[in-house]
Amino acid sequence: MNPQEILSQMTLTEKADLCSGADFWHIPGVPRLGVQPMLVCDGPHGLRKHIDSAIQAGFYEAVSTACFPPSACMANSFDVALEEEVGDALGKDCQAEQIGILLGPGANLKRSPLCGRNFEYFSEDPYLSSRMADGYIRGLQQNGVGCCLKHFAANNQEYRRLNVSDVVDERTLRELYLASFEYPIKHAKPWSIMCSYNRINGTYSSDNRWLLTDLLRKEWGYEGMVMSDWFAVNDRIAGIKAGLNLEMPGTDHDSNRQVELAVLEGKLSMEELDSVVLDTLKILARLPQWPENATLPWEKDHALARKAAAESAVLLKNQDGVLPLWDNQKVAFIGAFAKTPRFQGGGSSHVNAHNVTNSWDAAQGRFASLTYASGYDLSKDEDDSLIPAAVETAKRADIAVIFAGLPEHYESEGYDRTHLNLPPCQNRLISQVAAVQPNTVVVLMGGSAMVLPWRDEVKAILYLCLGGEAVGEAAVDLLTGAVSPSGRLAETFPLRLEDTPSYLDFPGHDDLVPYHENIFIGYRWYLARKIPVQYPFGYGLSYTSFSYANLRLSQSTITQGEAITATVEVTNTGSVPGAEVVQLYVADHSGRTSRPPRELKGFAKVFLQPRETKTVSLELDWRSFAWYDVQLSDWYAQGSFEVQICADCERVLLWAPVEAVSKIQRPLVVTRNSTLDQLLPHPVAGPAVRKLFAKAGITDEKLTHPDGHTLPLDYPIRNLRYEAQLTIGELEDWMEKLNQSIREAESCCE
Ligand code: BGC
Repeated sequence: MNPQEILSQMTLTEKADLCSGADFWHIPGVPRLGVQPMLVCDGPHGLRKHIDSAIQAGFYEAVSTACFPPSACMANSFDVALEEEVGDALGKDCQAEQIGILLGPGANLKRSPLCGRNFEYFSEDPYLSSRMADGYIRGLQQNGVGCCLKHFAANNQEYRRLNVSDVVDERTLRELYLASFEYPIKHAKPWSIMCSYNRINGTYSSDNRWLLTDLLRKEWGYEGMVMSDWFAVNDRIAGIKAGLNLEMPGTDHDSNRQVELAVLEGKLSMEELDSVVLDTLKILARLPQWPENATLPWEKDHALARKAAAESAVLLKNQDGVLPLWDNQKVAFIGAFAKTPRFQGGGSSHVNAHNVTNSWDAAQGRFASLTYASGYDLSKDEDDSLIPAAVETAKRADIAVIFAGLPEHYESEGYDRTHLNLPPCQNRLISQVAAVQPNTVVVLMGGSAMVLPWRDEVKAILYLCLGGEAVGEAAVDLLTGAVSPSGRLAETFPLRLEDTPSYLDFPGHDDLVPYHENIFIGYRWYLARKIPVQYPFGYGLSYTSFSYANLRLSQSTITQGEAITATVEVTNTGSVPGAEVVQLYVADHSGRTSRPPRELKGFAKVFLQPRETKTVSLELDWRSFAWYDVQLSDWYAQGSFEVQICADCERVLLWAPVEAVSKIQRPLVVTRNSTLDQLLPHPVAGPAVRKLFAKAGITDEKLTHPDGHTLPLDYPIRNLRYEAQLTIGELEDWMEKLNQSIREAESCCE
């Protein structure tokens, strides 16, 4: 039976029963009609499938599973194909564990580096975030299991996440927070979407009709189902009217009975109920045919997790080429993270990792000697008692590698950080070791940006982020040079918390969170305000070097609806193989609205042997240039732009000009307060204004001449009626006729 036929045979009670979970982790079925329930489970970077799959339990009661690097780490790879590979592996894991939908990935943006859940999100940039999410979803869903893209939308903090209302304008939503979801929704078509806990401009996402129906379904054409985040539902009836298909977890039929009653009392129409039930039935119809006796491919997953962690590591500093290490060096590993690494974050995404490796074990036998000192106690922030022994160990070695970073309790779902610092005792350890050992390297672990006060004191910094279960081996692959680092920062490392874009409004007051920084988050803010940072977005070093040449565009003009291709040649100019991230940004020089100095609009990762050159092609469409114009309710661009190939968001290497031509004529209504500079460029108003002033002896030359003997271009037309020799009444008549001609011209071109 197809879903429509099933729907036609369902009773009201059965329909209502499909509006909330069967239990903690199941979408209910319709037993009488043979529709099976479907198991959903957390993700995103591994399976958190509980042993008793109906209830919520601690993560130790979850199946043992491969733990891939969380999204924050994967985004540093700037490698969509790699993310797709990880998604594919997770899809196969879902098959083996008979999971229908994996709850992830999260495409929320990093509005503030303080958000406790930033390790679960990709980036501060919507282009990078949306492309990585897209790769993950495509990879996973090609296995016949589904994703649940979350948390839609603007769930950008943990503090009072069930209460706060984001006060945010539409342009900011469209260009940033929604854009991060829009591309994967349209392109990868996730089976399901999870609505967020928070409110947007006063309305909870769980009952936001604009968000879940007008935008998501009508404008973006989404055909899957929307489930609530766990316990996110505000008003179930309003939610159904808004397009929320499923409340999660189940409420033991309590809310289902409300739904039934609402229909009986005429507060909810059968059409409204049918519409949400049908979407769910369509997803249930996709229930996979599970393979017989499948087991988790642990070894294969582990090898991929190792590759992913190594490809995502970012080399922030490498003075005097101190890295990679040499086989004949006496190496000291310092820091508890060398033996017990940080590799994932806390909260609902925390998985029971199958095989966590540490660098101490992985590095055995790799150097002339390897010694260890713990240096700090992970449970104490201010205890310096382990520093002296670490300093002695460092002194006796040729090189000290300190494993440092954010302890587990510093970042988790459920709360935000209040500062960007490492535990003070770790900062002191690093400074004191660096004071006695000139070759000090820091291997940094943690899921989001940190302030590194000792960065001028050490020779090298290798940022692993949270590298998943194989992070220990991946770190050794990088330290020994088996892999050349090729990650780039997917978020800015600012100098101070006070410099961050949302500093004054995070986490808000009285449950209101004003997004005063609007479109200027992350690097958009630091670039626009020329605020120096520790390390910019897109930054990362390599053991080799690259050069760029011959940036070419397929056309130097883009008309709305068209796409253009940029090509550029990249050469590995160093002596070891390595991968480079080609980054393309677009800068708007048209001066038509307020825009960030440049925005990422394309990237590609290329692997090159020494002296090898490859040509990289990147496609740019209209959205690569356009901004969201709320007056037009559309994406608009007009005028001069520049396509820039950059080393990171701050350093432009090559550039080429582009002219954007919109097909939309901005609607114009002439009023007493319209100004000359608004009217003159208009195809109908411009000639009319010229004619009016010409009659009064003011020539075109005088009207527009730039040397100052002109009418002020920013004066409202009411102020210029004296120059035009018009009475108020004549001005009114003139405006009325002009508006009529403009309307006629617009309607003939529609
Ligand atoms: C989280 C979701 C998660 C769900 C189920 C919620 O608290 O926000 O991301 O999928 O719990 O565990």
